[in-house]
Amino acid sequence: MEARTALRLMRQAGRPERESGGLPRHVAIIMDGNGRWAKKHRLSVSRGHRQGTETLREIIRHTDDLGIECLSLYAFSTENWSRSDEEVAALMQLILDFFASEIDELDEKGVRILILGEKGRLPEAQRRVLLEAEERTRENTGLRLNIAINYGGRAELARAARELAEEVQAGRLKPEEITEAALGEHLYTRGQPDVDLLIRTSGEMRLSNFLLYQCAYAEFVFPETLWPDFTVEQYDKALQAFGKRERRYGGR
Ligand code: FPP
Repeated sequence: MEARTALRLMRQAGRPERESGGLPRHVAIIMDGNGRWAKKHRLSVSRGHRQGTETLREIIRHTDDLGIECLSLYAFSTENWSRSDEEVAALMQLILDFFASEIDELDEKGVRILILGEKGRLPEAQRRVLLEAEERTRENTGLRLNIAINYGGRAELARAARELAEEVQAGRLKPEEITEAALGEHLYTRGQPDVDLLIRTSGEMRLSNFLLYQCAYAEFVFPETLWPDFTVEQYDKALQAFGKRERRYGGR
């Protein structure tokens, strides 16, 4: 059976979403391999990222078609600033190009965009575009599209801890009220379900500081394919693999 048909049948069967057999509610993707793809094709790394953006468009569209609730994409980590000026500039330009070309369609489809990460360090033009995308789609009720830009998982946790400490200092919170749930409420993803499935392309098997808290019970799939070559069919296969996993959350 074609992977996509199987997925549709799984949804129609109304399988429980948080146990084995269903679609994930929240998918996170580390889009890795743009540089190696570019090298393989004797192209610039910037061209690799541009090709990767094409994959990104297809994957977002497909996630929305499947009715998955949340999709989190790692677009630019706090560590990525250490790349060459040329590569950083290319990625920053891609962010502008992506929102210029996609925002109308995403908004029409009811996608709600949220940027994970510290926008303060970004150039003014990018900051403005990202804020506008968040503002414009704030009331939408469809797919929740989280794009991590200047994001680090440890920085996110430190930020949450700081906010909680400030609340304690102001007398609004008792130290014993700092629970796992309270911490979760101070993360960028507050109000969203935990990540169910994390996909990292290119064969690398690392979390690389992505959604550390949210991935506590995530299932991992590591396709060998480089991100620019990653297809909707391969995505469906990863979703099917997730459907076959038995999730015990530490129980028996
Ligand atoms: C990792 O590949 C990928 C990135 C650091 C950037 C991912 C960004 C995009 C796909 C597009 C930009 C995003 C938006 C929202 C428009 P790598 O360069 O580390 O690959 P390598 O390990 O093969 O060198």
